[in-house]
Amino acid sequence: MKRPLRRSFAALLFVVLVGATSLPAALRRVAAPAPAREPSSPPLDPASLNATLLRLAAVDPSEAPLRRDVDDLLEGRLPASAARDRARAWRSSRDRLLVHPLHLRHHQLPLHRRGHYPDHDHDPLLHPLPLLEQLHLDPSLRRDLRSWHRLRRYDPSVLRNLPSLLSLPGRIPSCAVVGNSGILLRASHGALIDSHAAVFRLNNARISGYAAHVGVKTNISFINSNILHLCARRPGCFCHPYGDGVPILMYICQAAHFLDVAACNASSTSRHHSPISVTDARLDILCARIVKYYSLRRFVAETGRAAEDWNRARDAAMFHYSSGMQAIMVAVGVCDKVSVFGFGKAADAKHHYHSNQKTELDLHDYEAEYAFYRDLAERPQVVPFLKDVEFAVPPVVFYH
Ligand SMILES: *[C@@H]1O[C@H](CO)[C@@H](O)[C@H](O)[C@H]1NC(C)=O
Ligand SMILES: *[C@@H]1O[C@H](CO)[C@@H](O)[C@H](O)[C@H]1NC(C)=O
Ligand SMILES: *[C@@H]1O[C@H](CO)[C@@H](O)[C@H](O)[C@H]1NC(C)=O
Repeated sequence: MKRPLRRSFAALLFVVLVGATSLPAALRRVAAPAPAREPSSPPLDPASLNATLLRLAAVDPSEAPLRRDVDDLLEGRLPASAARDRARAWRSSRDRLLVHPLHLRHHQLPLHRRGHYPDHDHDPLLHPLPLLEQLHLDPSLRRDLRSWHRLRRYDPSVLRNLPSLLSLPGRIPSCAVVGNSGILLRASHGALIDSHAAVFRLNNARISGYAAHVGVKTNISFINSNILHLCARRPGCFCHPYGDGVPILMYICQAAHFLDVAACNASSTSRHHSPISVTDARLDILCARIVKYYSLRRFVAETGRAAEDWNRARDAAMFHYSSGMQAIMVAVGVCDKVSVFGFGKAADAKHHYHSNQKTELDLHDYEAEYAFYRDLAERPQVVPFLKDVEFAVPPVVFYH
């Protein structure tokens, strides 16, 4: 009796240790002791501070890990980051279908069969043997992945070219970008929103039951690939709350999410008619630089610390701009007039109009994004990086 007991205790301890190492970064950061103060250097004058912010904003900490992930995929391996996600999902048996079976097959290697796994039927997808797996990316997927990665460079002229990149017949006379803030419930802007030539919505927010506040029309649905990744587990990759014909525009958070794009695109062309487009990676880079600049500036102003400390204070590799920011940037690129609804916080408003979610994700810096939007609406000529290219920012109006 004693031995098995001890062994299962050891197993428990292992699980606890493994669990501890996968605690969200946010928690780790809270628990980490405050870094020792650097020997203080004299504060920079505004011009050199600005130059420092611009220089740091141009550094992309995800470049090297992303390159590794892309290489892994092209060589038929699931990237380590994605393998971790899958291992986690295997623990909860209902979330198995992280990778579409079309794109994942096993080599004919002997499978362990000693009850190590929660399920040991014959479904090869259920056996967590990432090292023995071989991915088979079809040629079009390889091509998409390569060209996406090749375009991941700084080129703000992408903004000017968005109408043709999105295959639009021309610029759109007026657009409403509808965010998901609870402040939408304080007004009845539904009809005003629908009066725009095009309406952009974010992250599959529900509209049924909220027509008076958010309108009913949708022309582009913006999501990020984390959301598509969740959709990919549903039958038929169901992810079309605005109807089958509404195109989905998505930015890629992890290279492995291309597998979800391929799987969902395949199912959407057969059952639904919602084309999924992956955002041109040059737009990702432009958005990332702008939001990082505003985040650095806020960090220095609020903490009095050196801008170089931003990396340590934030989880730099996870830091990302929001889908809302992407939607506003696309609107700026393709519309002659932009109206923005449902962005912003208020003490008397829910976080999301359509849910009871309480907290914000730590990987975004919404305050920095709001500072950027204020400049965009009031003095677009000062927005760094946007001014590197000949481009007239259209009028942008925020409704609160
Ligand atoms: C947006 O969608 C509506 C239908 O929901 C359509 O009438 C309108 O033409 C679309 N706008 C653009 C710019 O395509
Ligand atoms: C989705 O499928 C269509 C048609 O099969 C293809 O033209 C398009 O390139 C695919 N999109 C992506 C992002 O893979
Ligand atoms: C910082 O530099 C950017 C880019 O040159 C410029 O647009 C902006 O006005 C500068 N901001 C400050 C506060 O000097």
